[in-house]
Amino acid sequence: MVLERVSTGITKLDRILGGGLIRGKTYLITGETGVGKTILSLQFLMEGLKNGEHVAYVSLDERVQGVLEGATTLGWDFWSYYKMGVLYPFEIRIFSEDLRKYGKSSRAYIDTIIKMTNGGRVSRIVLDPISAMAFGAMEEFAVREYIREIILFLEEKIGATTVLTCDIPSGSNRLSRFGYEEFLSSGVIVVGLRNVGGRLVRTLMVRKMRWSPADMSVYTFEIMHKRGVVIGPPLRTVEAALQGAPQLQRDAQPSDQPERELETDSGTGEEYFDSFGDVDVSSP
Ligand SMILES: Nc1ncnc2c1ncn2[C@@H]1O[C@H](COP(=O)(O)OP(=O)(O)O)[C@@H](O)[C@H]1O
Ligand SMILES: [Mg+2]
Repeated sequence: MVLERVSTGITKLDRILGGGLIRGKTYLITGETGVGKTILSLQFLMEGLKNGEHVAYVSLDERVQGVLEGATTLGWDFWSYYKMGVLYPFEIRIFSEDLRKYGKSSRAYIDTIIKMTNGGRVSRIVLDPISAMAFGAMEEFAVREYIREIILFLEEKIGATTVLTCDIPSGSNRLSRFGYEEFLSSGVIVVGLRNVGGRLVRTLMVRKMRWSPADMSVYTFEIMHKRGVVIGPPLRTVEAALQGAPQLQRDAQPSDQPERELETDSGTGEEYFDSFGDVDVSSP
């Protein structure tokens, strides 16, 4: 059986993932706060909407209006899809008390999603961020079971391709908040910020991708108006350009380059970076 692929809305990311996401499976986008997880997940939904699909955005910490209004700053009009009745945006709050109360009945959670999405007739779902869902839970075992059941129910009852986002604490090298969301997902995309020569560069890598010949390099990316996430060159290329290349240029300079060019060399490597076109580095 050939596994059917679903586009993330970012052609280059689909290629990195080995052909896109597998239809009906669950994926995790993980990283510290402010790295672009929500934007990436919205882009995945926008791709579905453009294809005439019905999609759901479930906010677990922010006001959903705020998120959709924020998306207009990127030139993405989710409201018109909402008015057309093909986008189901809503908030669910599950606090630790509910978790204890519901115990194993994570089915209640799924029933809510099914109810809110016209009987579950959606092909893409985003839960943003799943880390907020089981916050403050006393028993780790309960959280693990809870998340596992939610993923299973989503896959079995709704069959949508699902993206979970996960906030991890700053400076942590964990892949998820609770330490096992990554095992429960079919794939993990890690987004971050890297300091390269004093500049913050956005990075993205595929950490896990079941049944796919994924490219595991660390890539750089930019967030751009309308285009959203735009993948740039691999991080190592950018590092070489920002850190190593000015030195190389200076070494090579006397014989083959005019004096004036050396004078304009700031030594930061910016000019190399700018030459990548797609990667216009403005520090966030
Ligand atoms: N309209 C925009 N144009 C360019 N970059 C933006 C825009 N809106 C937000 N960003 C960038 O995206 C970041 C937030 O992305 P977001 O997806 O909300 O992060 P996360 O969900 O990982 O916390 C901001 O810190 C900012 O750098
Ligand atoms: Mg977010």
